[in-house]
Amino acid sequence: MRKLTMMTAAAALMAASTSVQAEDVEVLHWWTSGGEAAALNVLKEDLQGQGIGWQDMPVAGGGGTQAMTVLRARVTSGNPPTAVQMLGFDILDWAGEGALADLNIQAGLEGWDDVVPEALQQFAKHDGKWVSAPVNVHSTNWVWANKAILDELGIAVPTTWDEFVAALEKVKASGKTPIAHGGQAWQDATVFDAVAMSTGGPEFYKKAFIDLDEETLGSDTMKEAFDRMAVIRSHVDDNFSGRDWNLATAMVINGDAAFQMMGDWAKGEFLNADKKPDTDFLCFRFPGTQDQVTFNADQFAMFAQGKEVGKEQAALATAILSPSFQSAFNVVKGSVPARTDVSDDAFDACGKKGMADLKAAADSGNLYGSMAHGHANPAAVKNAMYDVITAHFNGEYDSATAVEELVTAVQINK
Ligand code: GAL
Repeated sequence: MRKLTMMTAAAALMAASTSVQAEDVEVLHWWTSGGEAAALNVLKEDLQGQGIGWQDMPVAGGGGTQAMTVLRARVTSGNPPTAVQMLGFDILDWAGEGALADLNIQAGLEGWDDVVPEALQQFAKHDGKWVSAPVNVHSTNWVWANKAILDELGIAVPTTWDEFVAALEKVKASGKTPIAHGGQAWQDATVFDAVAMSTGGPEFYKKAFIDLDEETLGSDTMKEAFDRMAVIRSHVDDNFSGRDWNLATAMVINGDAAFQMMGDWAKGEFLNADKKPDTDFLCFRFPGTQDQVTFNADQFAMFAQGKEVGKEQAALATAILSPSFQSAFNVVKGSVPARTDVSDDAFDACGKKGMADLKAAADSGNLYGSMAHGHANPAAVKNAMYDVITAHFNGEYDSATAVEELVTAVQINK
């Protein structure tokens, strides 16, 4: 896995040496799966329609860990890309280093303050300046299910942890794989986001992952969350290690597995395979998190390169925030718009539910930044948490040890 990462990074750096024309945008991103690429095409075509060329700089690796490594290398070598897909605290970190272009002129002219939800503005603005253009809102506490398998086995959508475990047992007894999972640190953490929220509830989630409260991190509830991760682990297939998330989604699409716990980018894969919600697949919140949303938002930050925001960078930001783009892109991507004034007409049942859930969670104070996707704490803490969650998932720690290691990891890295 590590070897693959380094190869991907090296290939990306080589690709970076191809020349970029003045009116081109060079976009570093990690949208390389079928569904992600289909969504990205919506943006490429929009810009091409305006006469702006697109230099693609894909860095494979869900969750963006590898992309952020390549970005650091590009900036260090004095050759940052024009625009970069980024998440939460990474945006604030780069803005703190003074690396990002000021988008206040575009934001002012287009009224971004009035239409982008507060939860996103927290990560899109730094020192009162807009420094990134929000593309979408994803959320991580979803389950994706193969409807035919559930129908055949007489499984109703589980609404509690106990019902979920009973469903997993039923699938196991049928000989199918209960949970499609890819054993990569960010995927383990994505599952943990939902399991921790379900086990301890929203106050627990906030105290542990956003406030980094030591007592909560070291609590019996946290131990219970790890115990539940061990139950999940006992329902994945033998080949899960290192598997890419979209290949896990394919297992559900193809009827090899019943469920996947994954953010709503997974829906992009179902759609790309011509599958329909409520007919071929089901989307529901992880049992016990029906009222909560753990979100992440993809944004594009523009690297200033010591200059004013470039014409092509401004055009990219404007294109991203336009209401028609927000609808067209997010319908394909599986996410929901980053503006509150976009109609849900064009969205399918899961998209409509995603939009309604987001609004309800924001209104009731149940919207929380995703730990797994860089919206709860900076990369150093996030990565330290990843290490513990993954070591436990792979049986290196029992739950009690994982709790102790989590507390220590946070103490050292916060
Ligand atoms: C997330 C990102 C999504 C999706 C996913 C898997 O971090 O927000 O847009 O790309 O990774 O690659």
